[in-house]
Amino acid sequence: MDWGFRNRMAQIVRPSTGRSLMLAVDHGYFMGPTHGLEKPWDTVKALVPYADCLALTRGVLRHAIPPEADIPIILRVSGGTSILSKELLREGIITSMQDALRLNVAGVAFSILVGSPHERDTLLNLAKVVDEAEEYGIPVLAITAVGKDMVRDARYLSLACRIAGELGAHLVKTYYCDGFEQVVEGCPVPIVIAGGKKIPEFDALQMAHQALRAGAIGVDMGRNIFQSESPQAMIRAVRAVIHDRASPEDGMEIYNRFKGPSLPLLKETQVTA
Ligand code: 5RP
Repeated sequence: MDWGFRNRMAQIVRPSTGRSLMLAVDHGYFMGPTHGLEKPWDTVKALVPYADCLALTRGVLRHAIPPEADIPIILRVSGGTSILSKELLREGIITSMQDALRLNVAGVAFSILVGSPHERDTLLNLAKVVDEAEEYGIPVLAITAVGKDMVRDARYLSLACRIAGELGAHLVKTYYCDGFEQVVEGCPVPIVIAGGKKIPEFDALQMAHQALRAGAIGVDMGRNIFQSESPQAMIRAVRAVIHDRASPEDGMEIYNRFKGPSLPLLKETQVTA
């Protein structure tokens, strides 16, 4: 792998821990103005110092994130349906690799939908995105979307993650499930977990901790951070679980210590957890 690819991967996966805290704010591409993301920068600016990278679409990047923001970007390049669609997640390519390069991103993300009637479209498009990304040394994060009528179990997620890895994705984002070790062992590339719908803070920290113990390298978490009562306290707690190997209980202690109105932004050098 060339220097550029390795440099971009090092922006996504922290070399010192081999782990990653991706803050996901790409929900609007099919959900519209999701609660907590009505004005993305208002939500995100206090969280950026604690995230390793930001996962979003080009529209939010261009219009809501200041170019001087010190945060690597993972750009979602798949989309094309909305929550109103009967074919939710029948996604195609919505951003060219040239535009991703212009936007100076560290990586791109693409959703596949294994088991759906249009799985072939999503899988062939993933392969196409990998081909183009490889040309420029850009890491690809495959996202295993799960249709409403699919079972989010180890058997299904192992299949979807393995296919993503076989088609050339460099990282895979999936969901945590019982028997998650099986999903990790069957996938040739590192896995991060999505947080999914908002659950109590301790439960989200416990899920992240269990996923890490099962072999995931981190999270690509959105709603469980930006819809938390105190998003900054929550991302600090998640960061401690990921990078400091804190227990869920210690993470909750950090959450409780910092929750309440967002505290003044600490300079990067002062950030402890
Ligand atoms: C759907 C996505 C999100 O990036 C992914 O689900 C992570 O967000 P959350 O933790 O809120 O599930 O791919 O928009």
